Amino acid sequence: MSFNPLRERGIPLDRQLRNWRELDVAPIDPDHTDPYTRCRIITMNGIEVEAILFSHQFSRHCPDPAVKQQLAQVRYIEAQQQKVVNWLLPGVSSVLETTIAYEQVAVDLTAWVARSEPDPYLKQAYQFGVLEDFDHLYRYANLYEMIEHRRAEKVVDNLTEVMPGRPTYLHHRHPIDNLREPYDKTAAAPISKLHALTIMSAEQQTMNFYMNVGPTYMEPIARQLYQEIGLIEEEHVTHYESLVDPGETWWEMLLNHEYNECYLYHSFMETESDPRVKAIWELHLNMELEHLRIAAELFERHDGRDPQEVVAPTLPAPVTFEPNKAYLRELLATQIDYTTLGTGYVQEAHERFEKWQEEIMGGERPPSEVVMDDNRAKSGEEYRLETEGPHPVPSLRVDRRLG
Ligand SMILES: [Fe+2]
Ligand SMILES: [Fe+2]
Ligand SMILES: [Fe+2]
Ligand SMILES: [Fe+2]
Repeated sequence: MSFNPLRERGIPLDRQLRNWRELDVAPIDPDHTDPYTRCRIITMNGIEVEAILFSHQFSRHCPDPAVKQQLAQVRYIEAQQQKVVNWLLPGVSSVLETTIAYEQVAVDLTAWVARSEPDPYLKQAYQFGVLEDFDHLYRYANLYEMIEHRRAEKVVDNLTEVMPGRPTYLHHRHPIDNLREPYDKTAAAPISKLHALTIMSAEQQTMNFYMNVGPTYMEPIARQLYQEIGLIEEEHVTHYESLVDPGETWWEMLLNHEYNECYLYHSFMETESDPRVKAIWELHLNMELEHLRIAAELFERHDGRDPQEVVAPTLPAPVTFEPNKAYLRELLATQIDYTTLGTGYVQEAHERFEKWQEEIMGGERPPSEVVMDDNRAKSGEEYRLETEGPHPVPSLRVDRRLG
């Protein structure tokens, strides 16, 4: 069914404010909820956080008091939406359980985007990045088994496999090798712009999350692993944000942000299995339609262009959380040894990469390797969740007889 968000009527802005009772949503039950419902919650929190941060940046660069007032009013509603969405997460989950869910989002959302992306250069950027978050999931799952004595299938529930990806220590690249070429805003397909915004926002919230929760641990290995992976999430934000054309005007960026919010709430409303959560996606979609109308008006007035020239005429196929096991195995088999050089990809370690590795390792084993040694020593063997057979890369298979 075609849905053009520019033609739909939403809830008028002056009726979007919620009181304390309405904001105080009951969290999901982590033991009886589809893990992909939690993935959708985490994704939408990342999107709302980006909506708020983007609006602040816009306001800081905007001299027009009337526009600042307009931005402030919509931003307050975005802040309420962020509270409702993120407060769906249950307090009974540990930080590490939420971390594992964050990496599950990074794996299955990025894999879905890579599969759906029409532009080959952008597709490669997602294929490259997904193998790294896939490995983070495996490292954190081992930390989880070691310090909380629980197994990651409790969180990911067999939907996502847990096994080695591109080894985490090889993700530390020279910062200039993390910058990609941007798409061209005049030529890129509308869906490509939406994909880039979505993955950038998801990685940004992961980066922010690790910077804040990492030091809440007592265990030295946990503190160290969050530092290491936190630095890689900084690289991932640099990687994905550089895909966005920096030539977009502030009005155009605002329009794309609001359109993407409509797209994702609509996608999740269509695919959500939990009726209570689905009702929240629907309510928020109806708020976003009004945000989009306001953004489109500002765009027309200040950029003097028709919004239809920039955004998709109807919403693209819904973003879907579903297993991507075969696709990920194919990528593991073919791209595990990739690194970046400038804005391209190579299979050999180059001088700048090796120098960076040497300096950051300082002659020691990185936390992402130590955590594996420690868990093997403590639990008898490392943690993996290989539901589809042995690892596609023979050298990364575990010979369990050697224990
Ligand atoms: Fe929003
Ligand atoms: Fe990650
Ligand atoms: Fe990441
Ligand atoms: Fe919005």
